[in-house]
Amino acid sequence: MKVIQSVKEMQQTVEALRLQGKKIAVVPTMGYLHNGHLSLIYKAADLADVVITTIFVNPTQFGPKEDLDKYPRDLERDKGLAEEAGTDFLFVPTDDDMYPEGYQSFVNVEKLTLDLCGKSRPWHFKGVTTIVSKLFNITKPHYAVFGQKDAQQAFVIQRMTKDLNFDIEIVIAPIIREEDGLATSSRNKYLNPQERIEATILHHSLQMAKDLVDAGERNSSVIIDKMREMIDSTALSKIDYVEIVDTHKLQRVPVIQGQVLIALAVFIGNTRLLDNVIIEINDSI
Ligand code: PAJ
Repeated sequence: MKVIQSVKEMQQTVEALRLQGKKIAVVPTMGYLHNGHLSLIYKAADLADVVITTIFVNPTQFGPKEDLDKYPRDLERDKGLAEEAGTDFLFVPTDDDMYPEGYQSFVNVEKLTLDLCGKSRPWHFKGVTTIVSKLFNITKPHYAVFGQKDAQQAFVIQRMTKDLNFDIEIVIAPIIREEDGLATSSRNKYLNPQERIEATILHHSLQMAKDLVDAGERNSSVIIDKMREMIDSTALSKIDYVEIVDTHKLQRVPVIQGQVLIALAVFIGNTRLLDNVIIEINDSI
């Protein structure tokens, strides 16, 4: 595995690989790699000849009072894990190279970013789509792999890729979980032992929602109310949102039919955690 810091060197490297006819897959990350990230790297290695993993803690997607400064970082450990999982090139640009003085260009996906995570973090997706566009232009991939863990992010990037004619296939990989069901996340590190136990409530509430749908419940408000009640019964959690939306426009659906995303964001103590499930219901009328 080769570690590349410079934007120019990364661009020249992929140019040469493309001339050799190699298929390239990119896995964008903010580092502090865990099994969720590694599953994306395995997927990328299945899809393409060359895997580029990127590590960049992107300042433009953090709010002024968010955890940019304390976001966990461990590049030496990440290098070992990325290589073991099948990364050929680890692209680790500097802040100055990505956002040099005078920087003022941004990419914005308008409607899909208004609700869910976009509501409580209105700056967030503009930062994500901007950095991902830049990473696409620097790594020139045929495939880019993202996790369903951040479902809205994946759908927003899919929309942007289509709208801006990036010639890239966006692949969405399933959520990797800890043994007790908690979705693996770099931010799980912030949880103290009591919070870590309570954090499984996100997964349990989604599991209950799935069970309700399996038992025939189709009314979204009934399911959302029960999920909220379950989450509120824990001591340390505070709900940001619990929503049931369609997977195309991410708009609330009153009745569950077709493919829907049940998504939630919950603060456990001070840590905001995300989880979701996608279900498909095709009741014959
Ligand atoms: P980060 O949070 O590091 O996540 C990088 C990728 O890993 C994302 O596509 C995310 O959905 C995926 N991922 C995280 N946890 C996962 C899990 N438990 N199972 C499966 N996939 C998981 O998301 C970002 O970074 C940034 O916003 C980024 C896209 C890199 C832009 O800065």
